[in-house]
Amino acid sequence: MISTDKAREFCPIPKELDHKRMPDHIAVIMDGNGRWAKAKGLPRTIGHTAGVESLKTTLHLCSNWGIGALTVYAFSTENWSRPCEEVNFLMTLFESVLQRELTNLKLEEVKINFLGDLDPLPTALKELIIESIESTASNKGIHFNVCTNYGGRRELVRVAQKLAERSVRGELDPLLIDENVFASELFTASEVDPDLLIRTSGEKRISNFLLWQLAYAEIHVTDVLWPDFDAVALTQALLDYQSRRRRFGGV
Ligand code: IPE
Ligand code: IPE
Ligand code: MG
Repeated sequence: MISTDKAREFCPIPKELDHKRMPDHIAVIMDGNGRWAKAKGLPRTIGHTAGVESLKTTLHLCSNWGIGALTVYAFSTENWSRPCEEVNFLMTLFESVLQRELTNLKLEEVKINFLGDLDPLPTALKELIIESIESTASNKGIHFNVCTNYGGRRELVRVAQKLAERSVRGELDPLLIDENVFASELFTASEVDPDLLIRTSGEKRISNFLLWQLAYAEIHVTDVLWPDFDAVALTQALLDYQSRRRRFGGV
């Protein structure tokens, strides 16, 4: 575990990056924990524990480098289909890491949020999540969004339900539903859309992540497995991002 002092050590933006063209919002599909462990002859769970260190490093670097928001995929609505022991391990891991890291997150002025359907999570984890959201709500630093029991399709269905309820109550004219009204009901309502999506471990798919919000994100896929993701890999992703010309449908 990184000590409080080490976690708070300031890391400047690497010289090869253009300070003025950093993304405002980075989204990450943290994939490859299981394969990292397997390659070392270890159980998959060790890969998840190792992945937590990469997440801490990435959050700390993004915070130091002035990134406004970091949104990470921690557990998808589909991940419940994994063996019960792995799901239980992950839930316990989320709780122990949050418990252990909350003080550091506060010291670093991180504003934490959890996106997804939190109802089915274990009660103790849910309580800790609520405490961490409330106790960091007024922090002025990076927005750190942890997608937990998150699915893009489920999020969109939830928006449809919320808009339908408002319409039935007579509070919303269906004809006035536009992209802004729709986006105001997403879990990410208070965030700008991600500029950059990073997926580790080489899979070239979205896996039901931020289906609406990634409409115009630049995508960086790296073969690096999540537990090996470090400052070098993040710099590579940002260099790749800065090499793109974003056209948004223009010429
Ligand atoms: C990502 O790593 C972590 C979660 C989905 C919780 P994986 O567990 O998917 O690792 P691989 O893809 O099997 O290597
Ligand atoms: C996506 O990874 C979900 C998370 C990183 C939490 P998966 O490993 O679940 O995705 P697939 O199965 O390769 O599409
Ligand atoms: Mg995976």
